[in-house]
Amino acid sequence: MEKKELINGGKVKSVFTTDNEDQVIIEFRDDMTAGDGERKEVMNNKGAYNAVISTKIFRVLEENGVETQLIDLPQPNVMLAKKLEMIPIEVIVRNIATGSLVRKYPIADGTKLEPPIVQMDFKADEYHDPMLNDSIIKALGIATQEEIDILTEKALKINEVLTEFFADAGIILVDFKVEFGKDKDGNILLGDEISPDGCRLWDSETLDMLDKELFRKGKDNEVMDAYVEVYNRIIPDDEKVI
Ligand code: TYD
Repeated sequence: MEKKELINGGKVKSVFTTDNEDQVIIEFRDDMTAGDGERKEVMNNKGAYNAVISTKIFRVLEENGVETQLIDLPQPNVMLAKKLEMIPIEVIVRNIATGSLVRKYPIADGTKLEPPIVQMDFKADEYHDPMLNDSIIKALGIATQEEIDILTEKALKINEVLTEFFADAGIILVDFKVEFGKDKDGNILLGDEISPDGCRLWDSETLDMLDKELFRKGKDNEVMDAYVEVYNRIIPDDEKVI
């Protein structure tokens, strides 16, 4: 397996073609960014922690019937994955109100959301990722109603599986973002990553933050300890590779 051409240099991951045209190599770099990429720091081993955490979560989801793009993790920071045509929607699921929701709407921080909120944002940095709705998605030709329904159903299933998975590790899954894409046969699969970069994770006992929010708040020296804590709690000893 060999990295060939860089096809997408994202903010924290680089995607390469490989010998097999239906597959890609995703390299998780050690960069951490906030505010549309305005602030960027390098965090030691962050790429590997995120790749291993994301791989574990994708495997748990596969065991529960959610198809993902994951094939293998040949190196701690390198994922081999099915090539997808990504859908430019960030699907956000919220179990507890916080962040932009409480800044934009009259709802108190910490309010439990039952049922959870499913929100879709347009993944387009140049427009600052505006929130979408079904008719905007269809007007822009981003997805059909049938596809919107599939994304919603899959996001809620992922939420159900991961809420329980994290609870078993003493972690509250407050909210998270997922991205999907289509494989060569047109099937919609979970892609990208699920890691502390795109989730709010709170310790069940102390409610301490265990995710990228620490970095957004300028607590740069605490953020890797939080990622390592998540890693230690969800990766069994015999699966630890870092
Ligand atoms: P949100 O409250 O919308 O973000 P913020 O407070 O930064 O405005 O975020 C909800 C969850 O989705 C949170 O766990 C972070 C994740 N998320 C991303 O990973 N990327 C994004 O671009 C957005 C908007 C959210």
